Amino acid sequence: MSGIDRVFPPPVVEAGDADLLEWYAAGRRPGPWVGFNFIASLDGAATLGGRSGGLGNAADQRVFGLLRRHADVIVVGAGTVRAEGYGGPLLPAEARAWRTSRGLPAHPPLAIVSGTLNLDPGMPVFTQAPVRPLVITTAAAAPGRVAALAPVADVVTAGAATIDIGVLIAELGARGLARIHAEGGPSLLGSFQAAGRVDELCLTLSPVLVGGNAPRIAAGPPGAAPESMELAHILRAGSMLFLRYVRG
Ligand SMILES: NC(=O)c1ccc[n+]([C@@H]2O[C@H](COP(=O)([O-])OP(=O)(O)OC[C@H]3O[C@@H](n4cnc5c(N)ncnc54)[C@H](OP(=O)(O)O)[C@@H]3O)[C@@H](O)[C@H]2O)c1
Repeated sequence: MSGIDRVFPPPVVEAGDADLLEWYAAGRRPGPWVGFNFIASLDGAATLGGRSGGLGNAADQRVFGLLRRHADVIVVGAGTVRAEGYGGPLLPAEARAWRTSRGLPAHPPLAIVSGTLNLDPGMPVFTQAPVRPLVITTAAAAPGRVAALAPVADVVTAGAATIDIGVLIAELGARGLARIHAEGGPSLLGSFQAAGRVDELCLTLSPVLVGGNAPRIAAGPPGAAPESMELAHILRAGSMLFLRYVRG
């Protein structure tokens, strides 16, 4: 197991999975809840070599996996699916058993956000999906692409010409998917931030300087109102920090 200690609030040495699950669920309000999980380098890079994985390690993978357990739905932008793949099971057997013992479905569905629907229905994210994914798009999406994806996913409209984040959250809520766990990427976080709908940000700070021109974790329209977040906890595994912030 990858040793993770709590630094704040009161220190705990060698947290167990049950501790981590409790700490990452603390303070969640009932109803719609949007939590994002990201990793960034010390100098703010969201990718290393074009993907996030190079910034992580076993401890980060442990937190990444545990965060999925509470989710009603895992939301991800199409750019991240294209860059990272996302094929196959989303949760290991132990996590599925943990969920079913609490009355949750074994797997949360994946909801992919895409305006263009530039998504091949033959991608592993569809062909290897443990439960039928959703694809969230706009009413302006090309009907041919909607038809091509319909056999492999539920295509949901959330907005006319652009995605309306409030409608997206309401559409998921109408399907019983209120606890939204979002795994990025930067454009998706930027959209949710601009709409003022980020309730939680779990940020892993990877102890590496990347340099170059990698993107940071949010890329959104300029002029969005800044939002203050409150520190909920600091965890540590060696030199890697796990920060959890919630909306005040
Ligand atoms: N550091 C981390 O923790 C982390 C996490 C996730 C991803 N990443 C990295 O981020 C990079 C991808 O960045 P990205 O900004 O392209 O990722 P993204 O947000 O996953 O994808 C952007 C795409 O998603 C769709 N999309 C997102 N928000 C939308 C909105 N409001 N309305 C309509 N469509 C929307 C669009 O898809 P269409 O083009 O299909 O219309 C858009 O081109 C990859 O290199 C990935 O590895 C890093």
